[in-house]
Amino acid sequence: MDIHIFIITLWVLIIPGDLSDCGHVKSFLNCNKRFPKKKYRPFYHITTPDGWISNPTGFTFYERQYHIFFQYFPYNGAWNHMSWGHAVSENLIDWIHFPTALMPKDHYDSHGCLAGCALVYKHMLTLFYTGNVVSGRESFQTQNIAISGDGMYFQKYLYNPIIRESTSGIREFRNPKVWRFRNVWYMIVGTTSSESSGQLVLYTSGDMFNWELNGTLVNSYGDMGYMWENPDLFELDGYHVLILSAQGIQPDSWRFRNLYQTGYILGNFNYIKGQFDDMEVSIATFHQLDYGHDFYTVKTMRAKDGRRLLIGWLGTWDTDFIESTFGWASMLTMVRELRINKNGRILMTPVEEIIQLRGELIENAWYKPGEYFQAESKSFELIVNSTSVFLDVEIIFEWKYGGLTIGYSAEHGFISIDRGGIDGVRRAYWSPIDYVHLRIFVDSSSIEVFCGDGDVVFSSRIYPNQMRIRIAGYSEVHIMQYKLRPSIGLNNKLKQHVNNDLIYNNSYIY
Ligand SMILES: *[C@@H]1O[C@H](CO)[C@@H](O)[C@H](O)[C@H]1NC(C)=O
Ligand SMILES: *[C@@H]1O[C@H](CO)[C@@H](O)[C@H](O)[C@H]1NC(C)=O
Repeated sequence: MDIHIFIITLWVLIIPGDLSDCGHVKSFLNCNKRFPKKKYRPFYHITTPDGWISNPTGFTFYERQYHIFFQYFPYNGAWNHMSWGHAVSENLIDWIHFPTALMPKDHYDSHGCLAGCALVYKHMLTLFYTGNVVSGRESFQTQNIAISGDGMYFQKYLYNPIIRESTSGIREFRNPKVWRFRNVWYMIVGTTSSESSGQLVLYTSGDMFNWELNGTLVNSYGDMGYMWENPDLFELDGYHVLILSAQGIQPDSWRFRNLYQTGYILGNFNYIKGQFDDMEVSIATFHQLDYGHDFYTVKTMRAKDGRRLLIGWLGTWDTDFIESTFGWASMLTMVRELRINKNGRILMTPVEEIIQLRGELIENAWYKPGEYFQAESKSFELIVNSTSVFLDVEIIFEWKYGGLTIGYSAEHGFISIDRGGIDGVRRAYWSPIDYVHLRIFVDSSSIEVFCGDGDVVFSSRIYPNQMRIRIAGYSEVHIMQYKLRPSIGLNNKLKQHVNNDLIYNNSYIY
């Protein structure tokens, strides 16, 4: 603990004071942003100022600003008692860290404030979350509320928990998703049935504080694992989209290769019955959102202009976070937009605002197989177009001691990424139209590959040093390479608050 405070103090001393007036909440976003430089840290993906980040826990829009919340442990790069970190943006790309929103300090959440959702009602920014308490080998999970009138400081509800116990007495009972429809509040929570299969339960309320159990919303058909986390339900392009993060699905050829899976099922939620009409939940109807090595759990929100936006965790539970030796671990994905195509599949593309990160255009030329070029920075976007769908495309990122290959096979109709090692390949069927079009985002220690219109997406961690990019396969490719500017920061005034939280929280936990 002393060492932590010492480091924090050092950090405060090293970073010079900020130059602009940062007196008001609104102006914090325009202030100077600084971040301690650390190995493998991303430039334009949300990560923590220090410590561990995992699931996004809430994503909403309040008083002209986007708010993203996430699981956060400030002291080192390992999972522990979770807080809710908080970052805010006006444009979905420039994010500033706000003070920690929720800390595990109360008797009903002493071992963690777990994920839930954020929503705005009557000018209040309201968080729903799961309190986790561990006693011996058992954990007790309850649903709770915290409210803010300024978008920065949150007050936990005096009469928490609002839901004290799962229906079956099952301990796995978490991640409330709450919404309002025709004066009724709805909440779905992820749990496990008494037969140990994933299950969602539905609650309703007239006032968002007093909840009644409505019943089981969806049950597993048996091949969908033992626990469903982080449910989401929303309307998009005429469908109801149910998103869930399932634990315990077995790998099925190229699908479900990671430890746990986040995916979706389309259906029609019937408000009269409080049920889905004819919904089958099985691996036949459940589609992965992302095929990369490092992707698990998401939060979505509806923007003012109607877009459905998504942010996910660019991480999984079974990975080694190499950066944890430098005191931090993991990051979130870029914000993405969702659409549904005519075959009922979700398309996922980077939000259009991302192009505002573009700086210098470094590369803009045709390359033949065998040719290569350097990645001029650690933070860049590549736009790749081939000449035809009938020719294989291969883009190889190479660095000392490692590499990653993106390969499109015309004959087999698939696209894969291979980062080497045991179980290094991830692959999905893909039938591009006209030619192969890829947008590839590299950010220090991550890569996100968007294929075509967002038909297939891969999100993975990589640990390169100096990187060069070689073209293989049979097609000439047109390449554009843009440098991308840094966009995530800490504001000095707020950093002070974050640090106070750190010190306070530190003395509390240990
Ligand atoms: C569940 O909700 C539906 C729709 O609001 C309602 O018709 C039904 O009576 C509810 N069931 C219970 C047990 O509350
Ligand atoms: C590459 O393909 C995309 C998508 O089809 C297109 O919008 C873009 O103009 C193409 N770029 C070049 C340089 O041909």
